[in-house]
Amino acid sequence: VSGAPWSERARRAANSPIGELMARALSQPELISLAAGFVDRATLPAEAAASAAAAVLRDSERARTALQYGATAGHPELRARVLARVLAQDAGDRAGPGRGFVPSENQVVLSAGSNQLLYLLASALLDPGDCVLCDSPTYFVFADVVRAVGGRCIGIASDGGGMRLDALEAELDRHAARGELGRIKAIYVTSYFDNPRGVSLARERRAGMIELVRRYTARQHQHLYVLEDAAYRELGFDAPDVASLRAHDASGEHVVYLGTFSKSFSPGVRVGFGILPRALVLPILDLKGVLDFGSGHFDQHVIDQVLQSGAYEPHVALLRSTYAHKAKSMQMALDEHVVRRGLGEYLRPDGGLYVWLSAAPHVDTGADGALFASALAGGVLYVPGAYCFAGADNPPRNCMRLSFGVQTEPEIARGIEKLASALAAVT
Ligand SMILES: Cc1ncc(COP(=O)(O)O)c(C=O)c1O
Repeated sequence: VSGAPWSERARRAANSPIGELMARALSQPELISLAAGFVDRATLPAEAAASAAAAVLRDSERARTALQYGATAGHPELRARVLARVLAQDAGDRAGPGRGFVPSENQVVLSAGSNQLLYLLASALLDPGDCVLCDSPTYFVFADVVRAVGGRCIGIASDGGGMRLDALEAELDRHAARGELGRIKAIYVTSYFDNPRGVSLARERRAGMIELVRRYTARQHQHLYVLEDAAYRELGFDAPDVASLRAHDASGEHVVYLGTFSKSFSPGVRVGFGILPRALVLPILDLKGVLDFGSGHFDQHVIDQVLQSGAYEPHVALLRSTYAHKAKSMQMALDEHVVRRGLGEYLRPDGGLYVWLSAAPHVDTGADGALFASALAGGVLYVPGAYCFAGADNPPRNCMRLSFGVQTEPEIARGIEKLASALAAVT
């Protein structure tokens, strides 16, 4: 539109790849999408959701409360319940630091999915030009969020144990040497089975990261936060749970812990939560007050009922085994059609929804490249890996994210076969 009045912020949010990928997956039903991070369709909890909704609505007093606006921070019972769950999960790691700092229920904020909280946090912490340090590669929607508010992601080298502490410290030092440490407001880490690789932050790096953050906060007299995104924590295949970064933050002042019921229950009932350091509660509630003064209250009551009724744990157990099988199917297909033919290599995930595949170094997986077009023509869609390298100077061009979440096992196998044909044509 000529003379369009769009704000700077709207311009910065433009051309985000996620909307385009989602739209393609939804509009071409015959396409095997290994791209979108949608969850498994067959295990979506229709019955558990129906009984929870019925239980909320059956009692007319409860129904009228749930159908009314709620508080900005969300349904108090659910806030208390999610806090107790996270503390119990952390305490459950016998080799960990215990449940750690015990925040008050007033430090829990419910949101319409954890992505909303990521946006609110970026808005609360970043002025234009400020930075967030994140894994390289990282969750690409978060990188878009940072860009939209005028901030900048700086990619930190990350290996099979997640973010490398030596690289993190080197980046902090580089900023300190330039007198720009104050520009770095937060470190963003998906600590369990991350998106896009299925990699978790190694147990032995967790205490070290918090120690580093504490040290640099003392040095710059300005708070450095860790945004710990635990979206996939409950989707481990069979590895025992590891205490969160939050549990290592003895002061409770550094780590923002983010969780969601999207992956472990239903993204249609969009409920996420944050456990915030005390100082962040007010700015986040102020921003959320302006945004929606409280997310879907009925959804929060439904999730609370699901947790209360005991329906949640067996559902999560079912998901864990379902995804473990689907990941195995994808790995078998990749071994047979891709690895054995020398067309690529992948990381074997222990949980989550994703496999990270690296093609031969000269293959360009980008949306404008020959592979993407040929894969699409063959009927399969993936996420080009380049989207996930926010703020990296020289990102690799030969990687891709494959999701085993939404497709059935036979479709996963067919999708990988199609992908292998496309790879063979360009390798
Ligand atoms: C790492 C990560 N964080 C957060 C989210 C957001 O999930 P939701 O807003 O549905 O809670 C996603 C969704 O894919 C994700 O992959």
